[in-house]
Amino acid sequence: MLPRDVISTGSLILRPPVDGDAEAIAKTCDDPVSARFLPALPSPYRLQDARAFLETAEAKWGGGGAEFVITENGQYVGSIGVRVPDHWGVAEIGYVVAPWARGKNVASTAARAVTDWAFDHGIRRVELQAAVENVASLRVAYKAGFREEGRRRDAKRLRDGRYVDMVLFGRLRGDVVGPAEPYLPFFAGGELSDGVVRLAPLAAEDAGDFHRMLADPAVAAYSVGPASTWEDDERRCRCTGYWWVSGQRIELAVRDAASGAFAGHVQLTQVLPVLGQAMIGYSLVAGFRGKGFMTRAVNLLVEWAFANTALHRIVAGTEAGNTASQRVLERAGFSREGVHRELFAKPDGARVDDVAWARLRGPRPPR
Ligand SMILES: CC(C)(COP(=O)(O)OP(=O)(O)OC[C@H]1O[C@@H](n2cnc3c(N)ncnc32)[C@H](O)[C@@H]1OP(=O)(O)O)[C@@H](O)C(=O)NCCC(=O)NCCS
Repeated sequence: MLPRDVISTGSLILRPPVDGDAEAIAKTCDDPVSARFLPALPSPYRLQDARAFLETAEAKWGGGGAEFVITENGQYVGSIGVRVPDHWGVAEIGYVVAPWARGKNVASTAARAVTDWAFDHGIRRVELQAAVENVASLRVAYKAGFREEGRRRDAKRLRDGRYVDMVLFGRLRGDVVGPAEPYLPFFAGGELSDGVVRLAPLAAEDAGDFHRMLADPAVAAYSVGPASTWEDDERRCRCTGYWWVSGQRIELAVRDAASGAFAGHVQLTQVLPVLGQAMIGYSLVAGFRGKGFMTRAVNLLVEWAFANTALHRIVAGTEAGNTASQRVLERAGFSREGVHRELFAKPDGARVDDVAWARLRGPRPPR
């Protein structure tokens, strides 16, 4: 049985809930972000729902779990619970932060403290799950010292009826909790621009434009692997925040800065921290070709990467016959490094060479 402790961490106090918390709990759970990512909550969420939750919380303590409210200066700022541990000493945590207290490290501080507390009371492994689209919660997991352990495909249904992948995180008692700094930080201000092109995270709203562009025969001719379906591309657009926050890759829409129109896509993928290397890839919508847009986009992204990450080499591969792409790389300061012979399998069964390019951290080589 877990003890009904009061946990103090930084400016936060975590304590078992009391009747007087009901109003703040109701306001927090009635918020649209809470409703979106906690689809099992009643919606709208009323005071009577909060009162029912307080009874459940009491039963949870009685059954061997824990339920805390998080307070700061005596005010409610969120809730965090620990499910009843299983036979093997594994327990799952879940949290919600009041809309008025978000973005101030409340969830990550509380999750770290509750996990440490659970380890002190016989629990040996703590899990948490966050929807692949819940970027704030994914970031909380990393900041609270959890490691990603996998993706449970279509494991939960959101309120809009779509099934969503859940990212599973675990922390073991004795895990060395590393720095919370992400290998790929988000863009300060959310986007990059040189006044002509604008790079912003590829989002669900871009799925139509993105899918149409990939289906263009001029783009498809140089794509690797089978053509993607609309479902593949829509799902990909919804995963971009997860890939970024987990340091796997960055997927960006290239926009015409003047009109905001979708002009193309640029990505930083195959991120290998051990080598300090990542690969850049890109495509443009037909109407935006021949204007130097992609050279600008590649330059912006590479220069941001060298200024804001530990990457040392940005590499690219182009099919031997793809002269337009090779000109982009040359103009964006890349040098040719060699040829991977017969790397790409074409639909007719032929195999063609790949030209390997790289731009290194440091001054651009003279042209
Ligand atoms: C998830 C939630 C608990 C986070 O609480 P919080 O106290 O605001 O979280 P933190 O302040 O510790 O961290 C949020 C982090 O996510 C980042 N973030 C938030 N939204 C983001 C977005 N859309 N894209 C990128 N980053 C985002 C913030 O920048 C911050 O990271 P940083 O400190 O590196 O800048 C809160 O948003 C919430 O209550 N959501 C609804 C309920 C919920 O989702 N619960 C979890 C279910 S798994």
